[in-house]
Amino acid sequence: MNTLLLPPSAGNIFTASRILTQGGLVAFPTETVYGLGADALNPQAVTKVFEVKGRPASNPLIVHIKDINMASELAHFDEVSYELAEHFWPGPLTLILPLREHSKIAENITAKSGYVALRVPQNQTFIELIESFGRPIVGPSANLSGKISSTTALHVLSDFDGKIDAILEGDNCLMGLESTILMYDDPKLQILRLGCITKDEISTKIQDLAIEASLEGDKIPTPGSKFRHYSPDAPLRINCNEKSNKEVLIGFGELKGAEFNLSISGDLDEAAKNLYNLLRTADNMVKSQDYSGIAVSPVPNIGLGLSINDRLERAAGKISAKSFIK
Ligand code: TXA
Ligand code: MG
Repeated sequence: MNTLLLPPSAGNIFTASRILTQGGLVAFPTETVYGLGADALNPQAVTKVFEVKGRPASNPLIVHIKDINMASELAHFDEVSYELAEHFWPGPLTLILPLREHSKIAENITAKSGYVALRVPQNQTFIELIESFGRPIVGPSANLSGKISSTTALHVLSDFDGKIDAILEGDNCLMGLESTILMYDDPKLQILRLGCITKDEISTKIQDLAIEASLEGDKIPTPGSKFRHYSPDAPLRINCNEKSNKEVLIGFGELKGAEFNLSISGDLDEAAKNLYNLLRTADNMVKSQDYSGIAVSPVPNIGLGLSINDRLERAAGKISAKSFIK
């Protein structure tokens, strides 16, 4: 299969939408990371997403819609979730909600849990694709299962060239980390995955509500947070101020001797945006040059730094329920 690279244009959005209608796979840009898209109402197309990613069928997929109205056709909203959606959509928030019985969503999307993960993205090209297609689009992050996410079309191409029909290009992912996943389970709000929206931003919006971070929602049998994720092929050490002589060092803030830096000025937004690209670049250096592994400097554990550290800990295979619940 020849994977088409489609720069954003009305004609190419139409081409991408036609491929989806025919049951094909199209990678798409979002403000967080690239996604690997298929028609959410077509179970065969959804199966292909699991296959090309090498993703276990027990790990459900996010469904992208264009607005709250389209979301309400698929799921039941409680008051808190509705308020969160109104405030944070379009944007990097994913809500886990009870699926409507007659939603027509392919069964294999939700791991048959009765709950669906919904998100309205902020990327203009992708919103136009959803509008042109007229139906919900499933989209896990566009990377091989367990590996580093993609923030450029070239990252997607390096994982899926010849395996998917097309990659719709757009603004490179401006935020660079996945969405925050929330589930309201009366009386508390659970954070199932830390992401671009921080706990502080959520508590400012939703006051007087207990918010807890949890690897697994009480009602959710299979969140992907349990799986190893974001990992380079090369050995990765985190929280390192120094490297051993053959490591590629990715620094943060002022640091001498680092090959790369997440953000020289110590800006967490910039670090989030650079994270996956630098991990991929360093991983390729270990494959092609005389390096033995990757070391990453400590990143402050505040605000967006909590989400960055969550990704780094998983990438290094170090996550545990204890470290997630901070
Ligand atoms: O920013 C994002 O969220 C990106 C872009 C492309 O939208 N997508 C993304 O998808 O990160 P993925 O598949 O890499 O991560 C989705 C997470 C997984 O941990 C999965 O287990 C969880 O969402 N999830 C999806 N559907 C769920 C459901 N019905 N119940 C519980 N967890 C769910
Ligand atoms: Mg992912």
